[in-house]
Amino acid sequence: MPPLDHWRAEFPLVDEVTYLVSHSLGAMPKRTAAALQEYADTWSHRGVRAWHEGWWEMGRETGNLLAPILGVDTGTVSMHQNVSVSMGVIGSCYRYDGRRRKIVLTDLEFPTNMYLFEGFRRYGAEVVYVRSDDAMRTNLERLLDAIDEQTVLVPLSLVLFRSSYIQDARAVIEKAQKVGAHVILDVYQAAGTVPLDIGGLGAEFAVGGSVKWLCGGPGAGYLYVRPDLARTLEPGLIGWAAHAEPFSFATGPVAYAAGAAERFQSGTPNIPALYAARSGYEIVAEVGVPAIRAHSLRLTRRIMDHAARAGYRLNTPALDRERGGAVIIDVPNGELVASELIRRQIIVDYRPGAGIRIAPHFYNTDQDIDTALAVLDELALASRPS
Ligand SMILES: Cc1ncc(COP(=O)(O)O)c(C=O)c1O
Repeated sequence: MPPLDHWRAEFPLVDEVTYLVSHSLGAMPKRTAAALQEYADTWSHRGVRAWHEGWWEMGRETGNLLAPILGVDTGTVSMHQNVSVSMGVIGSCYRYDGRRRKIVLTDLEFPTNMYLFEGFRRYGAEVVYVRSDDAMRTNLERLLDAIDEQTVLVPLSLVLFRSSYIQDARAVIEKAQKVGAHVILDVYQAAGTVPLDIGGLGAEFAVGGSVKWLCGGPGAGYLYVRPDLARTLEPGLIGWAAHAEPFSFATGPVAYAAGAAERFQSGTPNIPALYAARSGYEIVAEVGVPAIRAHSLRLTRRIMDHAARAGYRLNTPALDRERGGAVIIDVPNGELVASELIRRQIIVDYRPGAGIRIAPHFYNTDQDIDTALAVLDELALASRPS
């Protein structure tokens, strides 16, 4: 039996359908149901005492579970609702009314980063989009040129959601640091399927969420801040949980908590989401991201080879070192084909300007891939323009 097959028993959904959509919503582990029951029991029977019996520290502890997956030190990760909020917290650490006021991002970033930082124009920010030559890769040279002495922030997806392309984060971070700008590395499409060493990369900030490859469900976004910056930054978008002594209920300006896990916090933590998220992190850590990556590369290669033989347009890099966990296949009438696949219990998704996204994870098998591709072939043939 291939070494990862036994994990399927932990994910009921993968025996019910052909589940190939972990770039969007990872399957729920069985253990998560028990964890959510524990949440309900604790609230039900411990009531307000729960805050001092673990709930208040839960954000820090959950961040610490993520730390080895992200490749960062413990105590450096704070938990938030999602990437949008985490990015907003970082954006709120800076001013945009001086000479250094640019936010540089490529036109292939996830739109939430664009919508959020567009809003910073009202504080004086200049939002600069770097044009890409196609929908697969950003133009690295153009991006590096755009990052200059007037740049404050560079939100950068490590893996692009449209094409699964792995960007050269090291080159971008090096250029940004040379001119005094800061990269916010969005690792959402990488964490849990591509091994990460964010500490080694020296990134100032990293953000992501738990919905996808981490199998942690919605509501558990995370924010890493490099420890030297975390000691000095003064985020504006905070709440009482960012105070050094929140239960002193001191009035007036905040006295920031020293630790990164607290200093960037807003208010009451999202406790049910934290209960839900942890089983996924534990399992991903237990399987090991390098083992997940090896399995994923083998299965995505299987899809790519088949697509090439069938003559489908691929919107995903061919080189293993440039490809994240998903493969994007662009067939005529892709949106219709994707809905029909879903109707036939092959769960994938479709993104305009990209194609049908197929994403195997550690609980998928060669058989899953072959089943999905056989149905895709049939539908693609039927929907071919005459
Ligand atoms: C790279 C990337 N960033 C961010 C998001 C979503 O952001 P949020 O957590 O704010 O919903 C996604 C979701 O697909 C994504 O792929």
